[in-house]
Amino acid sequence: MTLPPVRSLTRRAITILRTEGSRSLLRHVKSYGGFLVARVVACSRSYLYVHRLTQRDETPYLPRCDSWEIRVIHSDADADAVAAEGLEDVRKVFVYSPRALRHGAIAFCIYVDRALAHVGWVALTSEAKKWVDRLPYRVDFDAGEACTGGTYTMERFRGRNLMAYGYYLRLEYMRQIGRTLSRNAVLVNNVASQNVHARFEPEIHSTGRFIKLLRWNLWKETPLPGGPVRSLPPRGRSD
Ligand SMILES: CC(C)(COP(=O)(O)OP(=O)(O)OC[C@H]1O[C@@H](n2cnc3c(N)ncnc32)[C@H](O)[C@@H]1OP(=O)(O)O)[C@@H](O)C(=O)NCCC(=O)NCCS
Repeated sequence: MTLPPVRSLTRRAITILRTEGSRSLLRHVKSYGGFLVARVVACSRSYLYVHRLTQRDETPYLPRCDSWEIRVIHSDADADAVAAEGLEDVRKVFVYSPRALRHGAIAFCIYVDRALAHVGWVALTSEAKKWVDRLPYRVDFDAGEACTGGTYTMERFRGRNLMAYGYYLRLEYMRQIGRTLSRNAVLVNNVASQNVHARFEPEIHSTGRFIKLLRWNLWKETPLPGGPVRSLPPRGRSD
């Protein structure tokens, strides 16, 4: 695994300290540490989702903010252009994003007051998928499928419908370019994300167990016992 340059990490740490304070910096250090550890050792269980790409009304998904800007970033050149506009550079916030962009992943960014408030990624190829979601569930890209992942809302912008709107934008983008179906995974304990997904009435068909130790990986998909369910996973339904 190649680590991002220390300079990028330091710059990012200083920005978090200035804009969000020391507590937030500690939380970011902890989650970055978790991210690094997960590259070496991991054990997780996720629900596996399928979103059919149908046309939707944008209104219920609009952000609860006075104003916002959207940028869809396909390449380093796009990211340069966005940064030149004075919008926060996604590559500086998420230090792995330069490599994700180089491998074809697409970033959907929502800005509030020029700050990057939310990002979510789309993969249209198996090469890009490795950077969007490392869980090895199958996506049949040749048959018009795609996948999403890397969804993140900055802490100070949470609860304003940004994940919902980001998903609306991603699903609509995939529909407009002719994709038919989008797959993704949500950790079984991520109730906030499950609640947002439910608003798009996806099908949840299986759970996926992922165990990783160094270069050894185990991935096991188990269909839900009562068959596929719509919108919320069984756990969410009983909550
Ligand atoms: C999950 C995450 C992206 C949600 O982003 P967000 O922009 O705040 O999401 P939204 O505002 O669109 O919607 C969040 C919804 O979940 C609800 N919610 C938030 N935290 C919750 C919790 N702990 N339990 C249940 N529901 C919760 C909110 O009330 C909101 O529902 P509402 O619109 O009916 O009020 C954000 O919390 C995050 O970045 N988490 C860390 C990364 C992550 O988990 N990414 C998703 C990977 S699948």
